[in-house]
Amino acid sequence: MILVTGVSGALGGSIFDGLRAGGLEVAAASSSGDGVAVRNADFDQPETLRAAFAGVDVLVFVSAGYAEDDVVLARHGAVVRAAAAAGVKHVMYTSLAASGDLLTIALAHRWTEARLAEAPFDVTILRNGLYAELSAGLALAGAASAAGNGVFTAPFGDGRLSVVARADLAAVAVRVAAETWADLAAGVPRRHAGRTYELEGVSAVGGHDLAEVLAETLGRPVEYRAVPLSEVRPMLAGLEAYRAGHTVSMFSNINAGVLEARHSDLPAFLEPRPARDVIAATVKSGLEDLQN
Ligand SMILES: NC(=O)c1ccc[n+]([C@@H]2O[C@H](COP(=O)([O-])OP(=O)(O)OC[C@H]3O[C@@H](n4cnc5c(N)ncnc54)[C@H](OP(=O)(O)O)[C@@H]3O)[C@@H](O)[C@H]2O)c1
Repeated sequence: MILVTGVSGALGGSIFDGLRAGGLEVAAASSSGDGVAVRNADFDQPETLRAAFAGVDVLVFVSAGYAEDDVVLARHGAVVRAAAAAGVKHVMYTSLAASGDLLTIALAHRWTEARLAEAPFDVTILRNGLYAELSAGLALAGAASAAGNGVFTAPFGDGRLSVVARADLAAVAVRVAAETWADLAAGVPRRHAGRTYELEGVSAVGGHDLAEVLAETLGRPVEYRAVPLSEVRPMLAGLEAYRAGHTVSMFSNINAGVLEARHSDLPAFLEPRPARDVIAATVKSGLEDLQN
């Protein structure tokens, strides 16, 4: 059986739906699971993982990164130990792509990859690029002022970031899980065992690109103006402390130009959705939500 964790989230939910639509023997797990339709797997309560992982052959382990690093490390460490104790044969982990190596969020991902490498089961690492939906969120944050004065301000400098549609990442995870399941059933060597895939976006966006998307959506000229990093922290005062830290790190990385990927394994799996279309659609529906 395949088990997907974190199915209440956007990525885990899409992976589970994709596997179920393919007619595979798949179960769902969530920290808010009811234990009947959805297995209860709360990484903060390691005692829930023993029952959740019982009878599982292939575990699709979706990272649970929204917390301080010590919490995320404890969560992910508990998953690795529980999967080993339950006799899971193969774990797929949704990690972070190589271009994100200097982001503060990379620490928990690389730490988790190292724990998985020491574990007794086979592993496939899906190193996910940054979501196109995430950059759409940054555009939306500047939409109100762009609508008013035609200026989109963001702390990107002249940098750009490679982005990928979350649906593409889910589709790759579905294919890798299905092929791993098929190899297991056939008793042949698992083609994805021991593999790390860099699922970077194949196109990059910067401040000018997001300003263009806003201009198209708002139906008025919009120009990009960079704000210095020194102005970012006060703007993030309302965020949880860990999230503010990670956000500053992301803007620093964009400014430094290191989030533009040079290589991606994504096209080997599918034809990537154009990031610009995903961003435009997300911005459009976000603006409609704001207006309603
Ligand atoms: N590549 C990127 O650009 C990017 C951006 C943001 C985040 N991420 C990472 O990718 C993951 C999936 O992204 P997403 O867009 O699906 O995020 P999301 O919709 O915000 O979902 C959050 C995820 O965290 C899980 N989670 C939270 N607390 C948990 C707990 N105590 N035990 C087990 N799972 C827990 C949720 O699962 P349940 O509530 O169902 O348990 C859900 O899968 C995130 O959790 C984060 O680590 C990647």
